[in-house]
Amino acid sequence: MDTLLLLVRQIRFEAVGINSYELVDPNGGELPPAPPGSHIDIHLKDGTIRQYSLSNDPADRRRYVIAVLKEEAGRGGSKLLHDSLHVQHRVTVSLPRNNFALVADAKRHMLIGGGIGITPLKAMAHQLDAAGADYHLHYCAKTADHAAFREEFAHLTAKGQVSFHFDGGNPADGLDIAGLLREHDGVTHVYYCGPPGFMAACASATEHWPKGMVHSEHFKAPVADAAKSATPAGTGIVEIASTGQRLEIPPGQSIVDVLNDAGIAVPTSCVSGLCGTCTVRYLSGEVDHQDYILDDEERGTQLTTCVSRPAGGVLVLDL
Ligand code: FES
Repeated sequence: MDTLLLLVRQIRFEAVGINSYELVDPNGGELPPAPPGSHIDIHLKDGTIRQYSLSNDPADRRRYVIAVLKEEAGRGGSKLLHDSLHVQHRVTVSLPRNNFALVADAKRHMLIGGGIGITPLKAMAHQLDAAGADYHLHYCAKTADHAAFREEFAHLTAKGQVSFHFDGGNPADGLDIAGLLREHDGVTHVYYCGPPGFMAACASATEHWPKGMVHSEHFKAPVADAAKSATPAGTGIVEIASTGQRLEIPPGQSIVDVLNDAGIAVPTSCVSGLCGTCTVRYLSGEVDHQDYILDDEERGTQLTTCVSRPAGGVLVLDL
């Protein structure tokens, strides 16, 4: 079983445009474990699937809580969810997956959340606080009214573990991300999640940090990259290692589309290189990696087939 049918027990208005949705087992049972940083796929009525990070304390096994920003100009998933998902509805969700895990043995953790990107970091803060870990959460938002979960953060804010930074819509008036991350002490791990401009600022500010100490999760493809991935790339060839079958990947079609058309089932979810559902191992060949989740080591043996492409020659897939 890789999906769950959950009951929407509560919907709360959390901040401007943001609702949280509490999902529980209809029979009151415990839910599968979801370490901080985990996300679930939500299957919407029209067949749309969207990923949302879990924000609740991972120790609370009786519920999953997601927070959704209604984006009028988005792909439609958040609007559909806001408009069609109501209390007492049942909704199909995937088992939790985690591409944004805390490093268990890190001495210190710095969490930086921008806007709705706060959700996985909130789950991390709950776990770190319960463990008595050395951590701090910076929460960047436009105004206090745009910051979700302020009440839930109150006790952590009172303890000095959480700082809010409101920029009024002008990032220059908000948290000095470059200044905050200018020095690294060799023991702190930094984790960040937020909108594209915020992600770019954090990526730039951590360029000189050791790679293994910087952790991030995109919930949306950066705008420039989204335009790039929409540009048809050249034709490539993949080979199925178990059968020797070769398939052409024409411009404008993804590897996973071609595989599925050929009857080789590879599951997908975000189709944006963000979730890892479509990841496949490869045995030889060059890959033009276009994802946002695999690290350099993983990219040596794996690719996300929804966005990445053969980079020339034959790409042999371990299928
Ligand atoms: S389907 Fe999400 S990374 Fe490919």
